[in-house]
Order: sequence, then structure tokens, then C-alpha cells
Amino acid sequence: MFIYKAGVVGAGAMGAGIAQVISFSGLPVVIKDTDDERVKKGIDLVRKVYQGRVDKGKMTASELEQKMSLVSGTTSYDDFKDCDLVIEAVFENMKVKQQVFQDLEKVLPETAIMATNTSALSISQIASAVKRSDKVIGIHFFNPAPVMKLVEVIPGLQTSSETVDDAVAFAESLRKMPVRVKECAGFLVNRLLLPYLNEAAYALQEGAAPMEEMDKALRAFGMPMGPFALLDMLGLDVCADVSMILYDSFGPRMKAAEILGAMHKANRLGTKNGIGFYVYDETKKADLKPILDEIQAKTGVKGTPFSPERLVFQMINEAAFCLEENVASPSDIDLAMLAGTGFPQDKGGPLHLADGIGVDVVLAKLQEFSKTLGPRFWPAPILKRMVAANYLGQKTKKGFFNY
Ligand code: CAA
Repeated sequence: MFIYKAGVVGAGAMGAGIAQVISFSGLPVVIKDTDDERVKKGIDLVRKVYQGRVDKGKMTASELEQKMSLVSGTTSYDDFKDCDLVIEAVFENMKVKQQVFQDLEKVLPETAIMATNTSALSISQIASAVKRSDKVIGIHFFNPAPVMKLVEVIPGLQTSSETVDDAVAFAESLRKMPVRVKECAGFLVNRLLLPYLNEAAYALQEGAAPMEEMDKALRAFGMPMGPFALLDMLGLDVCADVSMILYDSFGPRMKAAEILGAMHKANRLGTKNGIGFYVYDETKKADLKPILDEIQAKTGVKGTPFSPERLVFQMINEAAFCLEENVASPSDIDLAMLAGTGFPQDKGGPLHLADGIGVDVVLAKLQEFSKTLGPRFWPAPILKRMVAANYLGQKTKKGFFNY
């Protein structure tokens, strides 16, 4: 199927980022939001990304205007009537998203693809609200959308294989790297990333180390940004929503660290409102200590040790759970983490890393963490089976991959 025009519902940071990516590929795109001010803000965000390229000499001012001429804004669904594909990027609320899809179905051509950029909600449940549920699919971009190469393509129960193929081809046409992911809460990348970020939050609230030190340690490991800087960039409100969805699906191993809820409650949302773990707006200077003291008094847990492994092994363990559930292949899991989170290229992804460390070593460390830090580290069953069968990674020439 050819896509001649696309639409985006929701002119926030993700919606605008997606619209920039679409227009950059040469396709007209219309951005919709509920009022003119939001639409304008979204279009300004698109322009800002292009302006950044002009400032760096990667594009001329006239090329910027050419690209911007492909971007239009609207507050009415009527302007989607000639769109072949629309991506919804409104906030994470099932009822709101289902309403958007019902509204879309009324105006879109019968052949149009209706995609959601949800971070964690069920594609199948969103699709259940419309008649043409075979046309509904997850096309999940990563923040910042103009930069991150990965796009997760997630079919729901009702999605047709034709829609999946079209979504993959569309992502490729945007010069992104699509990875097909079996539907589950958090899909692939968030399902691995959130336990890693959550572990950073546990380490902080337990006084394991100052957040600046932990961010530095994870950057030294090779991540492009530290976990607290990333939490702030993603937004503590978004992380709280995704954490809840993960907990609802996977239970205690995904229980969110208390500090994530406390930050949300204190309206410390991250870069978007000038204060999260770090302070971005000097007028909002505030101390984290009272929040930490209150949590430590409540949980009684403090002084646990910090190591980058504490965070990274959460990622490896969840990757093993995903593998066991056929969420994606080992190479797609690694590729998705490289392209979706900037996991260090030289380590090849969490599963290649585990093979290099030794699957037996990973298992033993998880068992130790499980005793000392909590049962959320309980190892994925596949790890025990691999060790028992001598699939130890590079040292036995077979592990998650063959060597
Ligand atoms: N919009 C557009 N472009 C941006 C940008 C933004 N918000 N932020 C950075 N960039 C561009 C910069 O302009 C720069 O472009 P050039 O190469 O053309 O000069 C490039 O990205 C690199 O930026 P910087 O040099 O300023 O900084 P950096 O090298 O540290 O990269 C980063 C910034 C791309 C954000 C990098 O730190 C990174 O990859 N961080 C990890 C981000 C991550 O994990 N994202 C996934 C989160 S999970 C998610 O999004 C899913 C969900 O549903 C919650």
C-alpha cells in the first residue's frame, strides 16, 4: 500500500517528533490537537528540530521551508479524510485513545491504517473499540523521535498481516529501523528499560549512591545518558503510567520504586516542567532529601550497595523473560535496545553482553541480588535451563547466540 499523506493525533513532544520524521521523509503530514494553541506549539516544535539542522549547516533555510510546507495543523478530524495512515500520540488513557480511534474510523478511507504510538497500552484493546480492527496496529517511536532509529511494530490480536507489512514498509520509508514485537505490556523496549530505570530509583531511595554518581557510572558503562537524566527526559508522569501498566501485567517484579510515585505527586515531572530528579529551572530549586528521608522511614530499607550491574542485569533478566515468551528474537531484542535506547554498540545489546559475561555468572549474580535486594531479581527460568545445558555464552560457543 502506498502512503501519500499521513496524520498525527496529539501535538505534544512525541506527536511533533513523529510529524517531523514523516515530513523529513518527504510526505505531507497533518497534526491534530484539541485547540489551536496546542497545534501551534506542535508545529513550532517541528520547526525547532529543522532549525537545529539549519543552525548546524545540515540544511538550508529554504530546505527548512520546503519541509515545513509539508506540515499542516488542524483541530478537526475532517482534515484526515485523505490520509492513508494516522498515528495517534495522545496521553496514555485507554478511554481517550479508544475515542480517538472511533473518531478516526468515521473519517478515514476504508483502506487507511490506524496506528497508535502508545508506550504500553494494549493494541488489541484499543482495536476492540472500532470495526476495522484489522487496520489497527502499534507503531511505537522512541524519544526523541527525530533521533532514535528504532520503531516497534506491534500487531494486536485483530491486526491483519497486510497491515503489519504496510506498517513495516512505512517505518522503513521513514528511514527508521522497524522491529516486529509480539504484543505484551510495555512491548519490548519499555519492558526492558523500565525495570532498569526502576532499579536506579530503588538504588536512589535506598541511599545506595547519589544520583549524579549513578548517572556517571552508567554513562561510563556506555549508555548515552544516565538513568535519572533519562527519567527526567521521558517524564515522571509517563514513567508512572508505564510502570503501572507493567505492574498490572507482570506483578511484583515490576513494582515501582516508591520514589517514582513521590516525584509525580510532588509535580516533579522532569525536563517538561523544569524539575524532576534534576532541576532545570532555577526558580524551582528544591531538595530531594525530604522525599528520600520519608521513603526510607517508611520502607526501612537503606544503605544497599550500588553497581551498574544492579541496573543492567534487570535489563538482561527481562530480555530473557521476553525471549521465553517469544516477544522477539534474540537478535531483534539486542537490535531494539541498541537502536531504541542507545545501549552501547560495543557490547552488542543485553543478550550479547550476557553471553560475554557468561550466562552462569549472570544467573549467579541475579540469584545473589534476589537474596540481598529483593525477589524482583528472581531469574527468568530460561537462564537456569541454559546453564544446565551448558549454554554459557561465548566461553562454551553457545548461549543466546552461537559463536
Ligand atoms: N529532538 C531532535 N533532535 C535531538 C533532540 C530532540 N529532542 N535531542 C537531541 N537531538 C539531536 C541533536 O540535535 C544532535 O543532532 P546532530 O547529530 O545532528 O548534531 C543529536 O541528537 C545528538 O544530540 P546531542 O549531541 O545534543 O546529545 P547526545 O549525543 O547525548 O544525544 C540523545 C542525545 C539522542 C537524547 C542521547 O542521549 C540518547 O540516545 N539518549 C537515550 C534516549 C533513550 O533511551 N530514548 C528511549 C527512551 S524510551 C521511549 O522513548 C519509549 C517510551 O515509550 C517511554
